[in-house]
Amino acid sequence: MVEIKNVAIVGASGALGEPILKALVESGKFSVTVVKRPSSKASFPASVKVVTADTSSVESVTAAFQGQDAVVSAVGVEGMQGQHVLIDAAIAAGVKRFLPSEFGCDISNPKVAALPVFAHKIATQKHLQKALAAKPGMTYTYVSNGSFLDWGLSNGFLLDTKEGKPTIYDDGKTVFSATTLASVGQAVVGILSHYEETKNRVVYVRDIDISQKRLLEIAQKVAPEKKWEPVNVSTVDIEKSSNEGLARGEFTFPVIAGFLCRAIFGEGYGNKFEKDDNALLGITGKTEADVEAIFKTLLASGK
Ligand SMILES: NC(=O)c1ccc[n+]([C@@H]2O[C@H](COP(=O)([O-])OP(=O)(O)OC[C@H]3O[C@@H](n4cnc5c(N)ncnc54)[C@H](OP(=O)(O)O)[C@@H]3O)[C@@H](O)[C@H]2O)c1
Repeated sequence: MVEIKNVAIVGASGALGEPILKALVESGKFSVTVVKRPSSKASFPASVKVVTADTSSVESVTAAFQGQDAVVSAVGVEGMQGQHVLIDAAIAAGVKRFLPSEFGCDISNPKVAALPVFAHKIATQKHLQKALAAKPGMTYTYVSNGSFLDWGLSNGFLLDTKEGKPTIYDDGKTVFSATTLASVGQAVVGILSHYEETKNRVVYVRDIDISQKRLLEIAQKVAPEKKWEPVNVSTVDIEKSSNEGLARGEFTFPVIAGFLCRAIFGEGYGNKFEKDDNALLGITGKTEADVEAIFKTLLASGK
């Protein structure tokens, strides 16, 4: 039986990397090493070993990955294209499990995969499969957690509460799966604790299935005194506008967000998972009362 003991994480200072690092450390199950790039200004808890590597060099990253059983990549948009370096280095260093930076929509859904915003994630999967076909040994897990629940609410992405004029995509009734950052961290701990069961496949995790319509109702319940004036937008139109932006060579936040909105709120994108691995990974889920608590905190802080 393979046991994962030594875990390296790349992108540990990011919005997702931080909670994954916290979950790995707090589980007490692993010896955790952060691999950061030379330009990183991030600092980490003293209990964590930190190694600096040139993430554009397979040799440099291979040296950083020596002795690691698993590598978790939580790099963001900027590091997405360079993940082939992490994969080649992990294979060269004899790593047993690699988790690429997926952590979102289910890109095994063809409609999701066709959206340009996921091109680097698709390319990373292709590189991984090709590299493993040439040199088998390392295993992988792709994590599909839907939308980040707390992050998506605090950024106004799932429902903008700040101005009281949230954009509601299509009819707002599309139900999508969403997961808090802490639960994604917990899922990573669960994956690395269940080597066989999570080997070479997509694992699905979610805290809740919910729609924008329901989110708005909960927000209205939390802040009835606020004037709520939802604005309806079609995900077909927003995808069209993102495609036009892309054709002009723009890969800006609005362009990226337009494609993401299509994937999360559009019909037929597998936004609500048909199954999940919650029980295996120790994810207990969230209730609408938990969502209400998130809104209370956000609205109290003026977000
Ligand atoms: N499901 C959702 O709703 C949702 C929402 C947001 C993100 N995500 C996904 O979550 C994952 C992480 O995204 P994030 O938003 O947490 O990212 P982020 O906040 O932008 O963090 C990026 C991290 O990657 C590191 N990094 C950037 N470029 C790098 C490179 N070339 N080499 C090595 N490290 C590099 C940064 O480190 P330093 O700056 O310290 O060097 C930082 O720690 C992505 O897969 C993203 O698509 C999903």
